[in-house]
Amino acid sequence: MTTARAFTPLSVLPTPLDEAPRLSAELGVRLLVKRDDLTGLALGGNKARKLDYLLRDAVEKGCDTVVTTGGQQSNFCRMTAAACAKLGLKCHLVLGGNAPQHDSGNIILDRLFGAEITFLGTEDWSDLETEVKRIAEKIGPSAYHMPVGGATPVGALAYVHAADELLSQMPQPPDWIVVADGSGGTHAGLLAGLPREVRVLGIDVSRPPTPLAVSVPRLATKTAALAGRPEPAGEMIVADHCGPKYASITNEARDAVRLAARTEALLLDPVYTGKAMAGLIAAVNRGQVSGTVVFWHTGGAVALFADEFAGF
Ligand SMILES: Cc1ncc(COP(=O)(O)O)c(C=O)c1O
Repeated sequence: MTTARAFTPLSVLPTPLDEAPRLSAELGVRLLVKRDDLTGLALGGNKARKLDYLLRDAVEKGCDTVVTTGGQQSNFCRMTAAACAKLGLKCHLVLGGNAPQHDSGNIILDRLFGAEITFLGTEDWSDLETEVKRIAEKIGPSAYHMPVGGATPVGALAYVHAADELLSQMPQPPDWIVVADGSGGTHAGLLAGLPREVRVLGIDVSRPPTPLAVSVPRLATKTAALAGRPEPAGEMIVADHCGPKYASITNEARDAVRLAARTEALLLDPVYTGKAMAGLIAAVNRGQVSGTVVFWHTGGAVALFADEFAGF
């Protein structure tokens, strides 16, 4: 059951770059959607790309157990559990909050992929990180520890190459890219991979303890060095659409999820991409974002089926 095998890529690439004509007409910009919700692994999402790099590293280091952490409906944890199943690795997830009375959304899939789950009873990010480090230390050198969201230079390297992929799909680079920022690893990789004239607007959905304006440029610099690219020159631009707290939906996000579904049959999610689309709409309305805009769809629609978000 846990026989490890050699690493083979997990994501199906390149992902499509789709025109979104009906949503463009609503918004008043030319909107394209980079479909990283279609990365193939376990219902898709941005984390498949990162896991290609992170779990290759784990396999090359001879690890047999992956430990990581996230919010209760973490997409990263679901995709890590899936990747471990495929690679024959053990997976231990430390999830925020108390064990729910009924499994729903991502938790159903975490269990289906055979992950061991610890519900820590708190949603405090530093408590979650401390616990996951403790578990990794207890297991010893065969454990591969990934921080929240896989936000390391190795993980973010995936988005340097995703930036190359996007540029190869367009006759001219876009004016703007809009992306959800959780750990900020996706944004950091994009900054490290893109020319400075492509502006990236990150939509902060979780207000992490270290502000994204500090952590993302720092990670982008380390990632560029790892990729052998020049020091990132693009500006760090971020807008807060977290609402009262991480993983609670806002009215604007709910409207954005509905709008995307009803114009393009595009499935956004309550925690990340719904808020990112709400952030994009607000940025267009205040005149910050215009021209050709790529909405980087990072996945997450499994959370539409979580009990706490029922009722679209
Ligand atoms: C659907 C979705 N979008 C965006 C993000 C944020 O990506 P990052 O952690 O690289 O900022 C996540 C992170 O878990 C996610 O699950």
